[in-house]
Amino acid sequence: MIRKRGSLVFCAAFLFVTWNAILVLLLWGRPPSGQLENGEQEAAEAPTSDMVGDLIRIADGFEKELEQQKNFLLQILTLWEPSSRRKTKVMAASQPVIPILVIACNRVTVRRCLDKLLQYRPSPELYPIIVSQDCGHSDTAEVIRSYGDKVTHLKQPDLSDIAVRPEHKKFQGYYKISRHYRWALNQVFRTLAHSSVVIVEDDLEVAPDFFEYFRALLPLLKSDPSLWCVSAWNDNGRDGYVDPGKANLLYRTDFFPGLGWMLLREVWEELEPKWPASFWDDWMRQPEQRRDRACIRPEISRTLTFGRQGVSLGQFYDKYLRYIKLNSESVPFTTLDLSYLKEETYRARFEKEVYDSPVVTYEDVKQGQLKGPGPFRLQYSSKDSFKVMAKNLGIMDDLKSGVPRTGYRGVVSFFFKGRRVYLAPPPGWTGYDPIWS
Ligand code: UD1
Ligand code: MN
Repeated sequence: MIRKRGSLVFCAAFLFVTWNAILVLLLWGRPPSGQLENGEQEAAEAPTSDMVGDLIRIADGFEKELEQQKNFLLQILTLWEPSSRRKTKVMAASQPVIPILVIACNRVTVRRCLDKLLQYRPSPELYPIIVSQDCGHSDTAEVIRSYGDKVTHLKQPDLSDIAVRPEHKKFQGYYKISRHYRWALNQVFRTLAHSSVVIVEDDLEVAPDFFEYFRALLPLLKSDPSLWCVSAWNDNGRDGYVDPGKANLLYRTDFFPGLGWMLLREVWEELEPKWPASFWDDWMRQPEQRRDRACIRPEISRTLTFGRQGVSLGQFYDKYLRYIKLNSESVPFTTLDLSYLKEETYRARFEKEVYDSPVVTYEDVKQGQLKGPGPFRLQYSSKDSFKVMAKNLGIMDDLKSGVPRTGYRGVVSFFFKGRRVYLAPPPGWTGYDPIWS
């Protein structure tokens, strides 16, 4: 339908241009006397031999023709306008709505998070922003309220302290976060009946192509049961550790990254009944929950965390998180072929790439003495060798349920002194050892 209308408009425009060309030729070619159809005009416009007179007559002729052309153009526009409007509507109607859930508590700096989301949001209809606030903090509530109907403000109703065993007193915050997540996600999926969500914490700032990234990956997440999330975060995404020329590069990872991530209703329905009382993110990383599923993550992060003051201590923040580089150029992900991320294709290609790469030593990598363009493979054979090399190269050295951060089938991919390096287990990897931590 749209296509037909498009060609109709094209034909009309073509006719219009041709008609004009003929007109111009006719008018210029017409002898001065030819224009004089009655005596009155002739009298008024004589003498006819000078150039200025000719020009004035031609201009008069043009004026009349222009009026007609204007009408013709308006007709073309009326043909064109409803079709383009309909096109936008049809596109909007057929595109899924992806709500953005912002988890807030008592930090007025949620403003930075919301400002960036609103700055880059392509459409309020396709990306409704839901701010769920815990903690009952009135200044923060005021900030959220100031956004008016640009965001939906929900308030977690249960502000009571949670009974925890004495040695967990200091972890009260993690219990509250977990309670809040359960409540907020139930609001999104049950009360508001959405089928997907992107979860953003109040201390995250998003990149310009944040929305485009999640929209492009939604079909893959929906169709591939070996995936259970799409994350905007690269745990090793510090400046210098990512390839600056590869903003479009995406990976699979067995490590749940969190920090700006998309979840489907089906997965929430699976997790909700057993949702933990605390430490929800590490709980997600356990084999019982993850069940060998992977997440998609970018080479260059699409979120940045500015939350030094938070529930966990700021040390981790100062050591790693604050250096994570935020992507700045927009990648048109929805127009790219992302089929390389499908499980079978990806696994085969990734393993070939890693295990075809020449093995190098830690010293060569560290001293920047790698010869050739790479990629290179750095082998670890035990938890300790992994940890020592990771720490000394500036890669995250912690493991959760045996999975290293950003790891895929044991392999950690990073950029070092301009070369791609794979920190990899020996060939023939069979699985993670959950006791590695
Ligand atoms: C860390 C994680 C975070 C995870 C949390 C729970 C990083 C950088 N952050 O939190 O992703 O969710 O552990 O394991 O790895 N909040 C409440 N209620 C509270 C306190 C906080 O809803 O009583 C909210 C905050 O608004 C924020 C989120 O919980 O959105 C995390 O709190 P934050 O203080 O940032 O803790 P982190 O140490 O970053
Ligand atoms: Mn935080």
